[in-house]
Amino acid sequence: MATLLYNIGQLLTMDQYEGQVRGQDMNNLPVYENYAILIEDGKVSKIGPTSKLENESAEERVDCEGKLVTPGIVEPHTHLVFGGSREHEMALKQQGVPYLDILKQGGGILSTVKATRETSEQDLYNKAMFHLDRMASYGITTVEAKSGYGMDRETELKQLRVANQVGRDHPLDVVSTFLGAHAITKDYKENPDALLDEMAAMFPVIKEEELAEFVDIFTETGVFTVEQSRRYLNKAKEYGFDVKLHADEIDPLGGTQLAVELGAKSGDHLAVATDEGIERLANSDTIGVLLPGTIFYLGKGDFARAREMIEAGATIAISTDFNPGSSVTENIQLIMSLAALKMRMTPEEIWYAVTTNAAHAINRGDVAGKIKEGRQADIVIWDAPNYKYIPYHYGVNHVNTVLKSGKKLYV
Ligand code: NIG
Ligand code: FE
Repeated sequence: MATLLYNIGQLLTMDQYEGQVRGQDMNNLPVYENYAILIEDGKVSKIGPTSKLENESAEERVDCEGKLVTPGIVEPHTHLVFGGSREHEMALKQQGVPYLDILKQGGGILSTVKATRETSEQDLYNKAMFHLDRMASYGITTVEAKSGYGMDRETELKQLRVANQVGRDHPLDVVSTFLGAHAITKDYKENPDALLDEMAAMFPVIKEEELAEFVDIFTETGVFTVEQSRRYLNKAKEYGFDVKLHADEIDPLGGTQLAVELGAKSGDHLAVATDEGIERLANSDTIGVLLPGTIFYLGKGDFARAREMIEAGATIAISTDFNPGSSVTENIQLIMSLAALKMRMTPEEIWYAVTTNAAHAINRGDVAGKIKEGRQADIVIWDAPNYKYIPYHYGVNHVNTVLKSGKKLYV
């Protein structure tokens, strides 16, 4: 089966560099005009000017009518699998109760832990499939999914199984992360180290059953300290996991420096990273996954200092942080607008941040985030005249068509 996309107005292949794209290289974005792509058996087989490829034989021919075409978007940070929802916390937020105070009172993450424990595996599965459909509708073709709303062995394993099962059943690719260290549950208030030990005791089974590729932790005031995070993640590395951190989201504890010290694949949030943290990040291969939707939704003013990070040479990705508490949206296009407006990222930087850099942040740099001959054809056709248009025209969905491995998704 062959498909020819032709009369592409602007094509972004995101294929200028081999590995992750850092610093000012993120502004070097070739744009191909009036191009065509031939897809055979789910893979990109030829890319070239429409005038050269228009006579290729293909069962399906799609006239792109001058539209923008890009790689499918890669989502490197979501909390996809959870029970319940938290609209009841909106009023508390409006009264100015801080996110970490809601958590301290047993709400926030802990309220979703309760709901997730009470939700059956089948219901969690149905809900995750629904959210994946919606992500696909916004142009996302690969998704990272964290656990972390079980925080006991049984429920964490339930969440991880669901993430893996939806990954097999849904057209989108799902990359699973174990976030057992996400909060401190009531029984462990006096002894959070025991909770970390219980979570670490799951590493062998998670590894053996290939339930997750990454281990993540929430390093934050009232959650886990830098020292606890270091110990826990070092243990994860001994079991062969790559590691990630929720770092410097609300209080600047030095999680960014720890991410670099541990050689973490990514440090996520980094909203209040210090000058020292930014400098270390810029001199490392750890990818900064910035989540401006979270800062917006929490009603805070400290957006990550993307400009300084990029100017210092860091590799930056962006993501929705989709979750039921601090960023309740699957709309990555809205996040692209926030990245432009609140972090002053350029459109070129933003496109690298949602494609190839996001793919590298979840070890999918070799398969996702680019349109390249030989790769799976994860491609989006946009109702937009050019790539700058997506962050500019905000809050709506610009997707025209999503192809996952060459197959049209009806979303
Ligand atoms: O990335 N910060 C910790 N975890 C999530 C929020 C999870 C929640 O509130 O349910 C985050 O913001
Ligand atoms: Fe998160």
